[in-house]
Amino acid sequence: MTVATAPGKVILFGEHAVVYGRPAIAVPVNQVQARAEVEDAPAGSGTTIVAEDLGREFRPRFVEPGDRDALALAHTVGNTLKRLGRPADLDLRITVSATVPMGRGLGSGAAVATAVVRALASHLGGYLTSRDVSELVYQTEILHHGTPSGLDNTVIAFGKPIYFVRGQRDEVFWLGRPFWLIIGDTGVSSATREVVDDVRRRWETDRASYEARFDAIGAIVERARQAMIDGDLTELGRLMDANQRELKAIGVSSPELENLIAAALSAGALGAKLSGGGRGGNMIALVDERTRDTVRDALAFSGAQAVIVTQVC
Ligand code: MEV
Repeated sequence: MTVATAPGKVILFGEHAVVYGRPAIAVPVNQVQARAEVEDAPAGSGTTIVAEDLGREFRPRFVEPGDRDALALAHTVGNTLKRLGRPADLDLRITVSATVPMGRGLGSGAAVATAVVRALASHLGGYLTSRDVSELVYQTEILHHGTPSGLDNTVIAFGKPIYFVRGQRDEVFWLGRPFWLIIGDTGVSSATREVVDDVRRRWETDRASYEARFDAIGAIVERARQAMIDGDLTELGRLMDANQRELKAIGVSSPELENLIAAALSAGALGAKLSGGGRGGNMIALVDERTRDTVRDALAFSGAQAVIVTQVC
């Protein structure tokens, strides 16, 4: 049996604007993981996928077109076998599970797909670079999200902080100093695809002001990258607040997100913002060792449904 894992992710800066060609920064979250196991199955049995968290077992060949979760897994397996030059429907049993919560902007779909691609490559003795893995996972992301920027698959496949410009650049970079993030879940489900579509509709009706907002976010991302390289956490916190103001202005925040952001800031966070598609999902707060526990408790007290503490290094 072969096992592979992949982390979750959070976007630190630049969500939404990244869809319009501006840069973004994302980091892996190792506290949550997706896991895939691949084992040989009896001859002639074909491929079976066991999705433990969905409580399902199915054959990729027989997935119905409207069954999106199963379809995403089936496509991931099919595309990977093709990329490895192996026939479809090999005799394999593939079991997937994840502690990355689904639909919360933590990259669960990309993490599961990454674990599956890696486990298959390793089981079948194929060699894939992180970039190959990222490209395969992007194909699955299209099924989940429509026209994703590619940020999730890139940061998860590389497993390092990433500076990303859609279709142009993805650079791993090193931090001057590790830092702590608290991730607070509003408990509100929000489909990234719908929020991205809604931003597009608004952009279409008022391009000039949306382009100006995206430019402002792009400039924040550039400064944030430098602050991360310099290890300047005070500046990084200020930039998170500035990015949040822009996200609110483009209409992707929500009362629940604002409530958790305010709670984190009053408990001493250096900065806080929503992360990912918005209108629900997660917010993130930058903390140091002195404020870490206070901010975590403040978020839990203010109604966060789940709180993850993660060190970014
Ligand atoms: C979603 O995690 C991030 C967005 O920028 C969409 C994308 O990058 O595809 C909102």
